[in-house]
Amino acid sequence: MKFDFRERDVDAIELMDDPHADARMLARTYGRFGLLNALLSHPGRLYRRDIRPRAAHTQRLRILDIGAGGADLCRFLAWRLRRDGFDAEITALDADERAIRWAQAHDRGAGVTYRCAMTTELVAAGETYDVVLSNHVLHHLDRAQLRTVIGDSRRLVAASGLISHQDIARSRAAYLLYAGVTWPLARTALADSFIREDGLMSVRRSYTVAELQEFAPPGWSVRGSIPARLELRWNGDPAPIG
Ligand SMILES: C[S@@+](CC[C@H](N)C(=O)[O-])C[C@H]1O[C@@H](n2cnc3c(N)ncnc32)[C@H](O)[C@@H]1O
Repeated sequence: MKFDFRERDVDAIELMDDPHADARMLARTYGRFGLLNALLSHPGRLYRRDIRPRAAHTQRLRILDIGAGGADLCRFLAWRLRRDGFDAEITALDADERAIRWAQAHDRGAGVTYRCAMTTELVAAGETYDVVLSNHVLHHLDRAQLRTVIGDSRRLVAASGLISHQDIARSRAAYLLYAGVTWPLARTALADSFIREDGLMSVRRSYTVAELQEFAPPGWSVRGSIPARLELRWNGDPAPIG
């Protein structure tokens, strides 16, 4: 099938977002996010570039992952920080209680805090974090939800903090790349999950760098990186926090 990549395909609804999605396939999808993120999301680079330097200047680094899904990124950061001797408090937030239930049951000693809530509830509670991040969430959001998440991220982050929302950048090349990378795994590692089908829909739903720039408030930046990644970012006052 041929798709037009000039516009976001907002009618492409991911199977995992269906409240009646098959529970076994959904669980397997959460379980496979780690593999997918290891291939596509560069969690090690995020840790080295953004998390570790901040942890070195903070007594107890507070991290919020919005739309954490299976929370593999949270667990990865928890284990890296612990390995390097840093203290941290990591919150995995998701609006979908199925994701939070799965993630909580698979914490494996990481010590992450799991919360089923919207960002607005955290803002109302007056919570703040040193790092607010998300991965593969922006494309789930419509324009109004995106504005809410951007505004709430800013309210939730400390003055010296960092916001990093990372996602796929939409293009035909990204679609073909994802199709190619996941094709050999479709009947093995990714079988009985929504990863391949939802991923292809995600690319079609994703923003481009130029589209996201329209949403970026003053002081924020949007940058793309190869292959097919983008980051919406806000960097606070670099003064040490704690
Ligand atoms: C594709 S998954 C990504 C999961 C994880 N961040 C990862 O990289 O593997 C997107 C997740 O975002 C959650 N989500 C979507 N909109 C949200 C919102 N407004 N607030 C919190 N979570 C949201 C969904 O429930 C889903 O679990």
